[in-house]
Amino acid sequence: MYRITVIPGDGIGKEVMEAALHVLGGLDLELEFVYAEAGNECFMRCGETIPEETVKLVRRSDATLFGAVTTVPGQKSAIITLRRELDLFANLRPVKSLPGVPCLYPDLDFVIVRENTEDLYVGDEEFTADGAVARRIITRSASRRISRFAFEYAKREGWTRVTAVHKANVLKKTDGVFREEFYRVASKYPGMEAEDYYVDATAMYLITQPQEFQVLVTTNLFGDIVSDEAAGLIGGLGLAPSANIGEKNAIFEPVHGSAPQIAGKNIANPTAMILTTTLMLKHLNKTQEAQKIQKALERTLLKGIMTPDLGGNASTMEMAHAIKKELDE
Ligand code: NAI
Ligand code: MG
Repeated sequence: MYRITVIPGDGIGKEVMEAALHVLGGLDLELEFVYAEAGNECFMRCGETIPEETVKLVRRSDATLFGAVTTVPGQKSAIITLRRELDLFANLRPVKSLPGVPCLYPDLDFVIVRENTEDLYVGDEEFTADGAVARRIITRSASRRISRFAFEYAKREGWTRVTAVHKANVLKKTDGVFREEFYRVASKYPGMEAEDYYVDATAMYLITQPQEFQVLVTTNLFGDIVSDEAAGLIGGLGLAPSANIGEKNAIFEPVHGSAPQIAGKNIANPTAMILTTTLMLKHLNKTQEAQKIQKALERTLLKGIMTPDLGGNASTMEMAHAIKKELDE
């Protein structure tokens, strides 16, 4: 029996979560779901975007599913707070084309591993007489930890090459540290090819020859940017899942936000959230179950059952019902 904390959040977060739980319900698995609150609606109700009770539940569960929240400027970000408090240092973002989906590249399969705790995201900014400055923190320990995670992940998933992405030609000290630690870790994995690219070149290669990539590992901000770029290659945000992984806890969430413009219409694409549940299942060593959902999703898409963002006319829940039905085929 696994204990899963479920944080639907706001807007389409709630809709894609309902769809994903419907699909999960079709598996022969003992999962106990414990609901928790976070986000803007939670703030309206109880004055907090991320109540202590939610953090406690996440801490105590085997895994957490997070839909999406609406972030209002000035309010504490629920997901950034969770990532920091639980030290979820690795942000895993697989980029895998899906059959039948209109996109730029129908044959991609690679993974971006993004450092999740430091870099410019430490939020240390201040105004100066003529503008503002931000501090960029890159530590040896965090660079080593994320590099090790990338190599271990590569080994486990059968990849043969890990690519570090940085800008050490300009950010000589910060990214110099990152690159050095990457190669130090790489030397402990003799069977694995290690290479490094500048982030600007990577941005170009992602468009011209993305098939070349296997596992990319990078610092927080570059990871944020290149992973949204990569999502664009396979058909957009409605398809991109992610995992935030720490030593003790893990939170699984789609890359997209609460999409207020389409919320409440039952047209949000549940694919990213459903793929997110497959990342969770793999994390719980339920690889076969993850495969089952992946295959059912692929069969559904191949039948042309998809939401309007992909050019289809299925609703969120129609897609979920179709996928659940495919699970039994
Ligand atoms: P967004 O990801 O919500 O939407 C960007 C665009 O993609 C919109 O056109 C939206 O309609 C479309 N889209 C996103 N997910 C989709 C799906 N599943 N199916 C179909 N279309 C989809 O990002 P945006 O608009 O910048 O932010 C909206 C709110 O979400 C903001 O309050 C933002 O702060 C928050 N946000 C929360 C995140 C989280 O909870 N981790 C991540 C990103 C944004
Ligand atoms: Mg982003």
